[in-house]
Amino acid sequence: MRADRTTYATGDASVSTGMIDSRAPAGGHRAEPVPGEPLLTVEDLRVQFTRGGRRINAVNGLSYEMVPGRLMAIIGESGSGKSVSSRALMGLLPGTATITGSIRLDGRELIGLDEKELRKLRGGDIAMVFQDPARSLNPTMKIGAQITEAVRAHADLDKKGAQDRAVELLRLVRLPAPERRFHEYPHQLSGGMRQRVMIAIALAGEPRLLIADEATTALDVTTQAQIMELLVELRERLGMAVIMISHDLGLAASYAEDVVVMYAGRAVEHAPVQTLFSNVRMPYTRALLGAIPALEREPHSMLPVTPGQPPDMSALPRGCPFRPRCPNATDKCLEHPPFLEHEPDHWYACWHPAGTELDTAPAVTAAAAPATAAAHHSTAHDQGAAQ
Ligand SMILES: Nc1ncnc2c1ncn2[C@@H]1O[C@H](COP(=O)(O)OP(=O)(O)OP(=O)(O)O)[C@@H](O)[C@H]1O
Ligand code: SF4
Ligand SMILES: [Mg+2]
Repeated sequence: MRADRTTYATGDASVSTGMIDSRAPAGGHRAEPVPGEPLLTVEDLRVQFTRGGRRINAVNGLSYEMVPGRLMAIIGESGSGKSVSSRALMGLLPGTATITGSIRLDGRELIGLDEKELRKLRGGDIAMVFQDPARSLNPTMKIGAQITEAVRAHADLDKKGAQDRAVELLRLVRLPAPERRFHEYPHQLSGGMRQRVMIAIALAGEPRLLIADEATTALDVTTQAQIMELLVELRERLGMAVIMISHDLGLAASYAEDVVVMYAGRAVEHAPVQTLFSNVRMPYTRALLGAIPALEREPHSMLPVTPGQPPDMSALPRGCPFRPRCPNATDKCLEHPPFLEHEPDHWYACWHPAGTELDTAPAVTAAAAPATAAAHHSTAHDQGAAQ
């Protein structure tokens, strides 16, 4: 899927970066794709923290798969384990975390790798863009130097070669006047420009999986859309897979090909975006969608507040964790519902899904899906559907 030499068409100019051939040896190992295997397999991932004598079950048996080149959104209320599970992929959790289960990249198990191996993995195989570039960028260092440093961490290049590549990366992420910006400090850039710089740094190692954790949340709606379009475009051009973590239902519906809905540290519904929004099965997903009438929902509307409280992650209820808030709950729900592929490509964990006899909650139809979805699907999703 990846060529020996990559040519990026960056607007008017085509930029041949030669990134693959020159950078791979510096880090040594790079996991190779295994034919027929998904790029990423997360299986029964569990993360526990111990704080003040209490055990916090931040991730509780999360499972999903991702194929190369796909854009997947992970959505869920605050505290549902989106960030912790994604940081686990990068080996970026604090020492207080206990991690079990399996995370395989091209079939290679990542849980249990030592710090040296994880450093090779970060940036080169998996990279992450965080919500707050102001905190992620070094305010005392020019942005050019920061990207050059990232390039040199992954490529065996001299200083001049790395600087040239850093400028190419700035051009790739469509930062205006990249040669001039190269010599500027983060505070001289707008929020959107800083986020582009963060993406450039994340791309320095040519990751095969890019995780954007609320990467556009702090930006205004127009800049948010531009950054998302950029991620979609880079994903297509570089063939990388992208996980976008978001509270923003509209954004997920607009740009993602697949959606994983998380609740209480596990996936509760997972499907291609159109399937999910046209055939919601989980009462929780339906509550997320239905809490705001479709006509009132603005593009890029944030996840609405669903009735009831999110669970206490240190004292989860028996059986289905959504039970105390679920209109369909019965005694059967005191048993834990398995997360299964009930319909082709449509996974969910529920004893009484929407559309069945015991379904009592008001129906939410495709028309209630966020307004931006239809407009973007034709461009952002159709090519992914072939996979
Ligand atoms: N270092 C830590 N020590 C103890 N508990 C933690 C730690 N980091 C996260 N948690 C807990 O793990 C749970 C999941 O947190 P996480 O940050 O993954 O949620 P999230 O879904 O990303 O939420 P948000 O949408 O607010 O970013 C929360 O209950 C949180 O308080
Ligand atoms: S398993 Fe039961 S409580 Fe859980 S979402 Fe389904 S119906 Fe509701
Ligand atoms: Mg988070």
